[in-house]
Amino acid sequence: MGKLWKTALLIASIGFLITAAAGAVSATDASNSGPVLQVQENNETDELPVEPPTEESHPGYEAIQQEDDTEEKIELGEQLYFDPRISETGTISCNTCHNVMEGGDDSRPTAMGVHGETGPVASPTVWNSGFHHTQFWDGRADTLAEQAEGPIVADVEMGMPDHEAALDRVRAVDGYVEAYEDVYGDEIDSDDPDDIVTLERTVDAIAAYERTLVTPNSPYDQYVEGDADALSEQELDGMETFQELGCQSCHSGPMFSGQWENPESGEGVYNQHPTFEDNAQCEEYIEEYDLMENPGRMGVTDDERDEYNYKVPTLRNVEHTAPYMHTGQVATLEESIRVMSACQLDHEASDEEVEDVAAFLTTLTGEYPEQEMPRLPNPSGESMIPMDAEGDFEDMQEEAEGDEDDDGMSLLAIGAAIIALALVTAAALVGYSRYENQ
Ligand code: HEC
Ligand code: HEC
Repeated sequence: MGKLWKTALLIASIGFLITAAAGAVSATDASNSGPVLQVQENNETDELPVEPPTEESHPGYEAIQQEDDTEEKIELGEQLYFDPRISETGTISCNTCHNVMEGGDDSRPTAMGVHGETGPVASPTVWNSGFHHTQFWDGRADTLAEQAEGPIVADVEMGMPDHEAALDRVRAVDGYVEAYEDVYGDEIDSDDPDDIVTLERTVDAIAAYERTLVTPNSPYDQYVEGDADALSEQELDGMETFQELGCQSCHSGPMFSGQWENPESGEGVYNQHPTFEDNAQCEEYIEEYDLMENPGRMGVTDDERDEYNYKVPTLRNVEHTAPYMHTGQVATLEESIRVMSACQLDHEASDEEVEDVAAFLTTLTGEYPEQEMPRLPNPSGESMIPMDAEGDFEDMQEEAEGDEDDDGMSLLAIGAAIIALALVTAAALVGYSRYENQ
């Protein structure tokens, strides 16, 4: 009886094991039979507690990835982006002003390039810049590649005398020449570095890297995709206020920049800022934050109707890109909401409105992909920066200090003259009163 029992148990367990194994096999079968799409329950947006101003979430890298954005090209572009040796002084890279270790900008009012020179406007973020229809505050470049030609030779940015001089720095590094050959080999039929390292390929590679700088999956995106709990009570209030005030009439679309279809198409969405320049509160802001010092898009088109027009900037990650506006004069997000409200909507925002909208804007902060400083190719045993680069810099500093000294001297002289005049007057008065008293 006992033996029979044991045999039954053995048979039962073998049977169980066989069934389990079969189950496991069929499970692996299922996962091998193609990608199992995790289709998310996409709640209807009108079931959400508050209808979002823009119903599309962050489009993600796939939306702007170009066919030939290969891994090798992106890596080359990243190296060039981080390489300060392409600047006159060997100190300024794209990352100096567009720091991808943080908000993709420089946290300064206006950008500072070689020799401490500052330009007229603030550095915008490079995060999500691949989605822009045009580049720069005034939209003077259509594409990222076209944009990247500018800073290399701008004297307030990387300060190279011309593009050939910048390319010669790159050509001097064998590692770079090899990388260009690897990436663009198909179209190269020469082994002359001059033919291999061209401006077109340089900015093409930088643009390919910049297109990877996307920040999806913000709390706002999660909300739009149907997670009603992704936003707090105050953030929802802020979202409602954002719509009631009319902010989304300009800051619409998934980038909150007026448009995102046809990225890099050159079809800019611009708006005048300030629109309500006669609003009393706006008048103060204009004065305080230099809002009407630059011509805006008129500087590009020469058309008076474009005066004070600016590209509607993205509000993605805006909490990390202070200070604000093209002048970089507005220090806080709250203040920028007040400025927008007064100058664009003729409305004096209450403290509560401002706080709520600020809370909402922080929900547009997405997930930043991890960034690593790349290793840069090095020439062997020789300097990449000409030996007089430092000399130039010293000369400039001396000149600047000399100017300061001159100013100091003249101030001192004026001061001494005033004191001398005062003493002479006092002496004369004393003398006169003595004479009177006599
Ligand atoms: C000295 C600081 C500085 C350096 C260096 C610099 N930039 Fe910029 N960048 C700026 C400023 C300032 C602007 C805005 C200029 C304007 O709109 O007139 C800008 C604009 C941009 C824009 C347009 C973004 C938008 O929202 O319109 C991109 C993209 C960009 N830069 C990428 C680069 C790349 C790539 C490099 C390196 C080749 C680079 N920058 C080097 C300061 C800098
Ligand atoms: C009529 C169009 C328009 C409306 C309405 C509008 N904006 Fe703007 N917004 C702009 C433009 C154009 C700029 C760039 C202005 C500049 O740099 O001088 C801007 C800039 C901003 C900035 C600064 C971004 C940066 O990177 O420096 C913030 C923040 C902002 N807007 C938020 C808002 C909020 C919040 C509202 C509603 C209260 C609003 N905007 C309403 C057109 C508009």
